[in-house]
Amino acid sequence: MLAELAAGNLRTGGSSRARSTRSALPSHSGKVTLSDWSHLEELAGGLRAPMAVRIKDLILSAEDLTPSKSLRNAQLLHDELVARRASMVAHLLRLPERIRDHPRVEELTEKQYNRLLRMLVIQRPRSFEEVEQFDEELLSGSRCSASDGETRRAIGAALSEEAFCPTMLGARRWGDEEADEVSERQTQADVQLDGVFTARIALRFLTNHYLAAKDPAREGWTGSVQHKCSPAQRCEEAARLVETKCLARFGRAPAIQVHPDRDRVSFPFVPEHMDFVLHELMFNGSKATLRKHAMSDTLPPMRVIVAAGDADVTIKVADEGGGLPRSKLRRVWSYQGRWGADDRKGLGLPLARLYAKYFGGSLHVTPVEGYGTDCYATFDARTEASCSQLLASKADRDDQRKSGPGGLGEGLYDAQGRRFCKTPEG
Ligand SMILES: Nc1ncnc2c1ncn2[C@@H]1O[C@H](COP(=O)(O)OP(=O)(O)OP(=O)(O)O)[C@@H](O)[C@H]1O
Ligand SMILES: [Mg+2]
Repeated sequence: MLAELAAGNLRTGGSSRARSTRSALPSHSGKVTLSDWSHLEELAGGLRAPMAVRIKDLILSAEDLTPSKSLRNAQLLHDELVARRASMVAHLLRLPERIRDHPRVEELTEKQYNRLLRMLVIQRPRSFEEVEQFDEELLSGSRCSASDGETRRAIGAALSEEAFCPTMLGARRWGDEEADEVSERQTQADVQLDGVFTARIALRFLTNHYLAAKDPAREGWTGSVQHKCSPAQRCEEAARLVETKCLARFGRAPAIQVHPDRDRVSFPFVPEHMDFVLHELMFNGSKATLRKHAMSDTLPPMRVIVAAGDADVTIKVADEGGGLPRSKLRRVWSYQGRWGADDRKGLGLPLARLYAKYFGGSLHVTPVEGYGTDCYATFDARTEASCSQLLASKADRDDQRKSGPGGLGEGLYDAQGRRFCKTPEG
């Protein structure tokens, strides 16, 4: 199978022989190991790192599509899908053993590895005809709803079991109420999981944007970018959605009051990324309020404040749900496994932070123990906004671990967020 790939000359090839492999695509069955990985890397002549994508580029690439522009887009997307998928597989393989070898994670790694092989075999499109074939391939993948949430579910399942890993003190859960510190092993897992989920977000987003740009034009949109994305409107919609979800799930819901910015600022952005963050913060706040005021007839409302600056918009989501001890703040940013109805509890905040950062934003949580929690999500309103900071974040969790006193969880905001503001990187 790998010989077939080599014959196809992965990055630059275009032999008809390679094209003919479409019908008999290679697949890897069973456990994918680091040696498969290095073999593949060798054959691919080195896999390049993902590129940062700016909102501005997203708009330009998807506007006024001509055939030659479509070809260039398809080529760029192909390169990017290979790079991101490769990054995802590499991070999965570098997870701590107990998570990496969990059957659900092994299955996920195998699937992702096979998708990478497939992308390498179909090659970079070189003609309009090949663009059509490439599009078909993407469409067939995006129609597969079984892949929705598969990463979150598989990782959630593995973490939930890992959480009960025995220690010298007996079986201790990562999510133990007494455990303030994040273990070294968990920090290592977090670094890799940030990489896995960053790649996952990018794969889905870039494919959706590329396909949406080919759909009949939607007024006010270019692909997945809404020209006038209004944070105030996103907040209002998220608030109604979360209230409805809480009512359906728990039978009651705190009211969520939205205080929009005076000018109702709007800017080109990808609303679904903003929605993910807002939904997560509002739902967390609602759950905390319901827990803290379970015995009370009335629930204090949550307040959502939208403030627009020159270059960015900050949304504060405040609840009176009792907060949490500052000593536990570090743990909320860790991917913790807990069994939930859908195998994926405890991933919401770290994922929301990746979405917030995707286009240069940030997410901070400031609890006031005994009272409530204020969360601040900031979105970069400039079209220069890109995922460059996120791609440069590898060392981030290592720094957070080394930071010691004064580090994550000690300040008003978490230290990771502050550090991000200081280290833009291309
Ligand atoms: N507003 C809040 N008030 C109090 N505690 C909070 C708040 N937001 C988060 N937390 C604490 O942080 C933990 C982690 O939050 P996170 O959103 O990552 O997971 P979750 O909500 O438990 O599950 P999931 O989001 O995956 O469904 C929560 O379980 C809760 O203990
Ligand atoms: Mg949550």
